[in-house]
Parts: sequence; structure tokens; C-alpha cells
Amino acid sequence: MIRFSLNGETVEVDTAPSVTLLDFLRDQRRLTGTKEGCNEGDCGACTVMVTDAAGPKAMNACILFLPQLDGKAVRTVEGISGPGGALHPVQGAIVEHHGSQCGFCTPGFVVSMAVGHATGRRDHDDVLAGNLCRCTGYAPIVRAAEAAAGEAVPEWMADTPPAAHDGLRSLDDFADWYATHPDARLIAGATDVGLWVTKGLSEIERPVFLSGVAGLDGVEIADGAIRVGAMVTMTALLPVLREHHPSYAEMVRRYGSEQVRNAATIGGNIANGSPIGDNPPALIALGASLHLRKGSERRDMPVEDFFLEYGRQDLRPGEFVEAVTLPRTAPALRCYKLSKRFDQDISAVCGCFNVDVRDGVVAGARIAFGGMAGVPKRASAVEAALAGQPWSEEGVRDVLPLFGDDFAPLTDMRASAAYRMATAGNMLLRYFHELSGMAVDVREVRA
Ligand SMILES: Cc1cc2nc3c(=O)[nH]c(=O)nc-3n(C[C@H](O)[C@H](O)[C@H](O)COP(=O)(O)OP(=O)(O)OC[C@H]3O[C@@H](n4cnc5c(N)ncnc54)[C@H](O)[C@@H]3O)c2cc1C
Ligand code: FES
Ligand code: FES
Repeated sequence: MIRFSLNGETVEVDTAPSVTLLDFLRDQRRLTGTKEGCNEGDCGACTVMVTDAAGPKAMNACILFLPQLDGKAVRTVEGISGPGGALHPVQGAIVEHHGSQCGFCTPGFVVSMAVGHATGRRDHDDVLAGNLCRCTGYAPIVRAAEAAAGEAVPEWMADTPPAAHDGLRSLDDFADWYATHPDARLIAGATDVGLWVTKGLSEIERPVFLSGVAGLDGVEIADGAIRVGAMVTMTALLPVLREHHPSYAEMVRRYGSEQVRNAATIGGNIANGSPIGDNPPALIALGASLHLRKGSERRDMPVEDFFLEYGRQDLRPGEFVEAVTLPRTAPALRCYKLSKRFDQDISAVCGCFNVDVRDGVVAGARIAFGGMAGVPKRASAVEAALAGQPWSEEGVRDVLPLFGDDFAPLTDMRASAAYRMATAGNMLLRYFHELSGMAVDVREVRA
């Protein structure tokens, strides 16, 4: 049984754990304003507002399982307008600025805009990057968001989440339970697992929702290190990274969309072992440590050692990712994400560089890539060749052929092998130029 509020009314639901919020809304509640477009988190037609103790967020209902909502408040597009059909300021602005044509995307846009409006956001491009419109074009929609921004938040938008039905289980209890039930399937943000259900049409056998476990979503900042709990979402991580690792933060700003970042966790992004996950290359370049736990037993390892080969991680039955610790500062860290679409796209190649240059000589280098091998991987041959050498463009060009010793990338729908190899070398050159003070981002060059 779970309990949440839906458009201001508390509901209790006893249903299969792998029912998505989208199916529940449309099939069981006939709240059909929330649309199904892609059913995989890409289009935002299913966007709903979910409020918890941290405030309101936009989330994709299509890849959100009902148990993730226990103790939260949900507002659909039907709950955005007020009593008697009074328009919310963003709805009025959409009408005024001609922000809708066929209208299929409009409910999702309205909800994303209402969340941005409630939270005082002005970065409308980021707020709306997870909502796709195929006919109106974005300019009128962004103009509508700008026009509504100064207006008061209607009082009917205030949501108070009810108490969770099940309450939170302690981390120690969960660790002991999972050690003896290793066949359970952990679900964190469900931005991967959700697709196994909606696209893979599989049933999740014995799911266990980490949102019901206390103590996994903390960020602790100490003198030299930042410890990030496995359940910290990309949204919660972003302000921490902006302060301590701005280049990594800029990559996370382009990670999925607002809706995806509000669900996706750092633990899920590491544990899934994806060769194109964006966090692992940054963490490896930073020299971060991964903390694994099974019952009361804990072990730590450098993040790169966790990835054994494609689809295989150093994770024992009943063991889970508890946290990751990264250094608090790394001024030379730069992260470059290359994807076909600037926002809301998975990387074709993601390169992260952290070269320690002292008196013009390379004292040490950590260079890691996603998208270049079956796992996130260091460019060990390139790193070794750089070490001890003068840090110069010529020296960097000399080591570029060694990427061929480090990687044999695949050709797939995102990029060809040759393109990936060329890109890896170009990213290292870009890094050299960036550290030398040259503007390397098209947006900086234009500015
Ligand atoms: C539209 C869309 C856009 C995306 N864009 C990006 C992107 O730009 N960059 C990127 O890197 N990824 C992207 N992803 C992929 C996905 O968001 C990430 O991999 C995400 O971090 C997974 O985290 P999660 O919390 O949702 O994991 P879940 O889906 O809940 O779980 C993923 C896997 O990890 C396991 N797991 C989860 N937590 C733990 C734990 N603590 N210990 C052990 N195992 C665990 C689960 O059992 C499962 O096998 C995107 C996905 C979607 C749908
Ligand atoms: S239906 Fe496309 S994101 Fe949910
Ligand atoms: S108005 Fe038609 S898809 Fe946006």
C-alpha cells in the first residue's frame, strides 16, 4: 500500500509495484491530460509535478513507478488550473503568446512551466529542454514562460505531501535484508529500469525501492572530500558540483533533461555499468572512491576498478553501491560531452581530463572516457606518455596516436569508430587549449 496526494486529494493505492504513474493516471483515474508520447522519458508529454520535502519537481510519469511516490504530492495538468477553471499564469501566457498548435505536447509544457514558475526559475531553456514540441516551435513557448515569470504563484498550487504509508526503513535493516535476498531488484530513480518495463515489456521480479530507505541521499562536504550517497539525484548533485567542479557541473546540466535529472541517481548511473554513463568518466578522472556494502561489510575501490567488462561490474550478490567520495577541488578537471543533440541526449563520447602540470611539466594525468570501450575507461597509454613530459601542444600532438593503444571503439548509431577516435584526440587538444586560456566553447567564442 502507498499513500500520496493527487491534485490535492490523498489517495491510497494497493497495486503491482511496476505500474507506472502514467498508466495509473490514464487507466485508473481517467486523468488523460497527461499524455503518452515516447513512453521512455524523452519527450516530456507525460510531465507531472511531484512535491516532496525538497519542493516541487517536474518528472516523467511514464518511467515513474507508483511506490516511488509514497509520501509525495502529485499534481497533473488537470490540477494546474484553479477552481472554476481559472487559468494558471503559464496557461494564460501560452494562449496569449500562441504557444500551442496541435496541443499534444502542451500539457507537458504547462506542467514544466508551472514547476519552473513555482520555483522562480528564469533559465527557461533548461527548464523546458525535456519537453519536445513538433509543431509550434520553441520561441512562442519560451516567450510565454518569460511573460508568466513575474506573476504570483496561485494559492491552489500549494501541496503538502501526506505521511508515507510505509515510512522509511533504516539503511542497516535494508543492508541486512538485501544481503539475504540478493535476487531482489534494486530500483533507484528508475530511469533505466523503467524502460525495461515500458520498452522491454518485462516484469520486474521482486523489486525493492531505494526511495524507501533512509540515509542514502546525503551529501557530506568535509575539508578535502565530498561524499555523495548513492540516491543523490543529478538535480541534487548539480549545485554541489557548480561550487566545487564547475566543468563537471556543466556536463551534468546537459544530462538528460530536468525531468530525468530529478529522478536519475549517481548510484544508478554507476551501478548500471553503462559504457556511456556520464558520471563515471568524471569520477575516474577525479580519482573518486566507490563505497560498496553488503550487510555490515564494506569495501572501497577506485571507481575505475568497478567496471570489469561490458555488462559486468565488481558487485557481489547482495552488495550495493552505498556512496562515492570525490576530492573537493580539482582545478584542472574539464569534462566534454559530445552528443548528437546538445540537450537531452546520451553521449556519443564523453571525455574527462585532469592533468597536473607543475613548472610546465606533467606531474600526473588522469584521463577517462565514456563511449570509447565496453566500459568507462582510462587512457592509460596516453597518461603514461604525458607524464614527466613538457606540457606543450607539440607534446600533446605526439601522444595522440597512443589513443589507438588505449581504445578500440565500436561503430554504432551514435558515432563511427573512426569518428570516436578522432574525437578523443581532439578533446585532448581542446583541453590543452582550454588550460592555456583559449576560448574553446562555441558559446564563449560568440560571447
Ligand atoms: C530520457 C533519458 C535520458 C538519459 N540521459 C542520460 C545522460 O545524459 N547521461 C547519462 O549518463 N545517462 C542518461 N540516462 C540514463 C539514466 O538516466 C542513468 O543511467 C541514471 O543515472 C540511472 O540511475 P537511476 O537512479 O534511474 O537507476 P535505476 O534505473 O533505478 O537503476 C539502474 C540500475 O542500477 C541498479 N542500481 C540502482 N541503484 C543501485 C545501488 N545503489 N546499488 C546497486 N545497484 C543499483 C539497478 O538495480 C539497475 O540495474 C538517460 C535516461 C533516460 C531515460
Ligand atoms: S511519454 Fe515521453 S517522456 Fe514520458
Ligand atoms: S503543439 Fe504540436 S507538438 Fe507541440
